[in-house]
Amino acid sequence: MASTLPSFPFARPQAWDPPAEYAKLRATEPISRVKLWDGTTPWLVVKHKDVTNVLTDNRLSKQRNRPGFPEMSPGGKEAAKNKPTFVDMDPPDHMQQRSMVEPLFTYEAVAKLRPHIQKTVNTLLDAMIKEGCSQPVDLVEKFALPLPSHIIYGILGVPFSDLQFLTQQNAIRSNGSATATEASNAAKTLLNYISDLVEKRMQEPKDDLISKLVVEQVLPGHLQPADAVQIAFLMLVAGNATMVNMINLGVITLLQHPTQLVILKSDPSLSPLFVSELCRYHTGSAMATRRVAKVDIQLGSFTVKAGEGIIAATQSSSRDEDVFSDPEMFDILRFAPKERGGRGEDWYQAMGYGWGEHRCVAEPLARGELEIVFSTLFQRLPNLKLAVPFEEIKWTPPKKDVGIIELPVIF
Ligand code: HEM
Repeated sequence: MASTLPSFPFARPQAWDPPAEYAKLRATEPISRVKLWDGTTPWLVVKHKDVTNVLTDNRLSKQRNRPGFPEMSPGGKEAAKNKPTFVDMDPPDHMQQRSMVEPLFTYEAVAKLRPHIQKTVNTLLDAMIKEGCSQPVDLVEKFALPLPSHIIYGILGVPFSDLQFLTQQNAIRSNGSATATEASNAAKTLLNYISDLVEKRMQEPKDDLISKLVVEQVLPGHLQPADAVQIAFLMLVAGNATMVNMINLGVITLLQHPTQLVILKSDPSLSPLFVSELCRYHTGSAMATRRVAKVDIQLGSFTVKAGEGIIAATQSSSRDEDVFSDPEMFDILRFAPKERGGRGEDWYQAMGYGWGEHRCVAEPLARGELEIVFSTLFQRLPNLKLAVPFEEIKWTPPKKDVGIIELPVIF
């Protein structure tokens, strides 16, 4: 059977378009099987209703060390052997650990951070404007990459003087163009650095996430110092590449939809609606939603046996025509109420941040950052344009999460 199954991940045909296989499978075979790099043949669900069912079924596990868990690469299989953090745990351990950091990422907590995020955005844009653009400027390097690192390092409590070095290490770790050894050395450097910081905060706590973990969890004995290091590292790396990608994708999407750019420029308060549609249209972190069955379960008319993997294709469900009208269309007013000229659709149904108990713990922060970026960027740089034709933009490899590697602009 395996030889006749399509290999997965599917490839994007070009630029940001999702793989064509998803629309075909939604219409003809919503529950199917695919073949991975290691010859295993997990199930693939592509419809919104099946994806939500899979991601809320506690008979399915997220523990990567269980036999049959679908891994997407040899590197993933290696990483699965590491001590897990809550992203790879099941109930009750998952919530027990997630709740240690969750209070720092609620909408109320992020509301307090907004002035700091706005200031960071302004500072980066001020520097770009000051340097000018007699030559094309790479928006990734100058803006999209440093912004999320600056914010999360601030939350973790990393001293400002170390920001540049650590941002650079994080970029080497995750940008895909470094060698495997370089990437793994950069990850080790970051881990060692955080380990030292945990040690320092154990001696002298401050007002930051690492101190909170130390004071509330490590010192009373609920958590080992090594676990605090792993959790802090997770917060550092989990959303980094995705944040960078979503900023870049937002810029390019607006430049390719000039009428919608005009609407946003004339009313920057539409930024939250824009961000919701952006995260639906480019479901930018779509490979994490995988499970393995702990027992036999019924999935539609099929039986998934214990030990078989399932991949829930969030990128496909964000374009499911049963849930979103004209899903292939980018519409900044999709989630606006009908009486305000919108489609009145429900933003929460879009899958950019996953679904169920593992839905992104930092969604309010990620949204807050993106909302501030897109209510500010085109106000400060109203003439921002691509410095190369759209066709020359360097995208992430077609089988990886959609993203942009370099974005040369003038303004
Ligand atoms: C636009 C930016 C972001 C997007 C699109 C995004 C997307 C996602 C998605 C799809 C998941 C679900 C994965 C799953 O089911 O396994 C997730 C989980 C997670 N995200 Fe984000 N994320 C973003 C930003 C961030 C940031 C900034 C952080 C950290 C500060 C972060 C930390 C996490 C963590 C720790 C989890 C695991 C949650 C759990 O398993 O309970 N994310 N994210």
